[in-house]
Amino acid sequence: MKAFGKIISHKTEGKKILFQFENGCGRLEVLTDKIINVFSGFDCDYHRSRAIEGDKAVPTEISVSTEGESVVVKTASLTAKVFDNFYVDFYDEKNQVLCRDYRGERCIRGKITEEMRVLAASEGHSLDEGAKEKKIQVVKQMEGDECFYGLGDKTGFLNKRGYEYEMWNTDEPAPQVDSFKSLYKSIPFFVTLRKNVVYGLFFDNSYRSVFDMGKESDDYFWFGCEEGNLDYYFIAGEDMPQVLGGYTYLTGTVPLPQMWTLGYQQSRWGYVTEEDIMEVAENMRRNQIPCDVIHLDIDYMERYKVFTWNKERYQDQKKTIRDLKEDGFKIVTIIDPGVKVEEGYDIYDTGVKEGYFATTPEGEIYVNAVWPGDAVYPDFGKEEVRKWWGDNQKFLLEQGVSGVWNDMNEPASFRGELPADVVFTDEDEISNHARMHNLYGHNMAKATYEGLKKHDGKRPFVITRACFAGTQKYSTAWTGDNHSIWAHLQMAIPQLCNLGMSGMSFVGTDVGGFGSDTTKELLIRWVQTGCFSPLFRNHSAIGTRRQEPWTFDKETMDIYRKYVKLRYRLIPYYYDLFFEGETSGLPIMRPLVLHYEKDENVKNNNNEFLVGENLLVAPVTEQGVTCRTVYLPAGEWYDYWTGEKIEGESYILAKAPLDTCLMYVKAGSIIPNFPEQEFVGEKEIDTLILDVYAGQGSYEHYQDNGTDFAYRQGEYNQYHIEQKENVLKISLAHKGYEKIYKKVLVKFAGKQWEADFADGMEMILK
Ligand code: GLC
Repeated sequence: MKAFGKIISHKTEGKKILFQFENGCGRLEVLTDKIINVFSGFDCDYHRSRAIEGDKAVPTEISVSTEGESVVVKTASLTAKVFDNFYVDFYDEKNQVLCRDYRGERCIRGKITEEMRVLAASEGHSLDEGAKEKKIQVVKQMEGDECFYGLGDKTGFLNKRGYEYEMWNTDEPAPQVDSFKSLYKSIPFFVTLRKNVVYGLFFDNSYRSVFDMGKESDDYFWFGCEEGNLDYYFIAGEDMPQVLGGYTYLTGTVPLPQMWTLGYQQSRWGYVTEEDIMEVAENMRRNQIPCDVIHLDIDYMERYKVFTWNKERYQDQKKTIRDLKEDGFKIVTIIDPGVKVEEGYDIYDTGVKEGYFATTPEGEIYVNAVWPGDAVYPDFGKEEVRKWWGDNQKFLLEQGVSGVWNDMNEPASFRGELPADVVFTDEDEISNHARMHNLYGHNMAKATYEGLKKHDGKRPFVITRACFAGTQKYSTAWTGDNHSIWAHLQMAIPQLCNLGMSGMSFVGTDVGGFGSDTTKELLIRWVQTGCFSPLFRNHSAIGTRRQEPWTFDKETMDIYRKYVKLRYRLIPYYYDLFFEGETSGLPIMRPLVLHYEKDENVKNNNNEFLVGENLLVAPVTEQGVTCRTVYLPAGEWYDYWTGEKIEGESYILAKAPLDTCLMYVKAGSIIPNFPEQEFVGEKEIDTLILDVYAGQGSYEHYQDNGTDFAYRQGEYNQYHIEQKENVLKISLAHKGYEKIYKKVLVKFAGKQWEADFADGMEMILK
């Protein structure tokens, strides 16, 4: 990066502190007392953010002074000191160092010679020279004990320390291993944790960028990019949840979903006909495996043309979908962005006529290939195109479809990557692929969300593969094409936890694995992990070994059923977490470090996770293993299956035979349960079932109609539940939904009590 040189002058305009350096300008902007933006316009003088919508600045007291060589900007909780060369250091209110710019040179690795390259290439290796100096580059000093979390869906373990990543949405079906630098999602945000220090950094730049978390050197970590602006947010907080709250304050939280979307979902690329779908539905019900959703992959379309239905494979899809709905099944269909080039096909014709597709710099419509063969790319950065795409969802809704799965939106292209200069639009500006690539899936999901919201009125259920920061406002996501290998089951835990640490909390992996062939044992262990991921879908690739729950033996099916049923029992707990998450931004599936950041034992815990704050899950993710160590953090915990009480801050050795996924509940927890159901909404639920674990604690339980946006007008109930010294108190903290529970059933220490519900009731648990 060019050196900014000495500070010539600075002035304060409202919450902005503008700097004139010898070689350019920069500014700091205080958004809240914990969030400061650092900006220099390399490309334009304003934030070109698609992640942050609206003005996030709130009235904040600030003071600006000079101290020696630096200009000091202070809020109640954060101090930023700006020096020559636009070095910015951050301190907390006690003047403790949070994060400083690194003053030295980067130590870029020695050059790779042509000879080395040729030699390595003889065996198929490609050598990586490492990232060069970037035009825009932020290098932060490593204070020593940093751990890094977040960065979206990157491969490998939880803590990203020591690795280098790239933000470039990438469709890569080969088994995704630790050395991969990028996958489908680009979320340029991470949380840094040190002893007594935590903060977040969000680099709001959509171009291809590099994040080096200490690979190049142990003295610093850095991120940078060749284009766009220097535009990053420093996010302070007292603890990790607050930092994450700061990030989701900027980029948005996950809206409360429809309740059925939390049910089990069955999918496979290769359910070709109406009969295939009916067979899946029948098997689910016959084998009493609860299920809410069946996905239709590309096979349902006519020659992979989006917004069409294959008439040979379906005699009457509307009737099929209606019949399935009566049996409690919802249909979700895949929609890819690539539109088949075919005159006479209305989506293609309209797009051509209205200029809705990306073009070459010469103005020709840009053509590449995806499933339908030659295909063109809708220009989702343009509001008009998003509206058109959104309106096309009507076709799916009219068939009876309940949710839309957006795939291939990196965007994928079978004839090589789109050139950087393909012309796309970025709202009101002419733009290009280099800038819009990482935003493509985001804008497509936004178009889908807005279309569904407008034409359906229900809370839209969108699933996307590609994302950018902020996509959580519009869509859930799955982690794309994993494989049926144990390494990918292991990776599922840190990957989903890091997505949660990046604001994307409604996420899941393809349970059983997508590519390659699963085994009985792998499928069992995967469902034991997957039943806890917010998005719970079994999906597999065409031609691989079938992996529906009934395709192995009775033992597999019995265990599979046990865990799907467990998930259905916990749906109200998940729903409460989603309701809370819409405000707090906290994920559902959480790494232990999120709540126990002072505990050294959990900073690198890759094989356990929390659901909410109180349920700890320790699945087996290795072949043949039936016993494992579990770390329980501070507090008292109960074994979910045996009720045994265990003192925390300890490692235990626990038996986990094939039918057991180890689970522990924190003392004092109150967990709402649903009765057994084949699908969400099968039964009218008028009893509040509470699973209570001895100790002291309180819980907020939420209840609404589970489908639309009436809750935002106050149409919901909230129950405040408290337990202390064997007394359980329940009161209605908010009353706005007509269906108040009639009864309460409490399960406690192996006994149970039932009573009529009354606001302000007390139950003695003895
Ligand atoms: C992509 C998706 C996968 C889907 C397939 C066919 O590989 O990631 O989930 O089944 O395309 O549509």
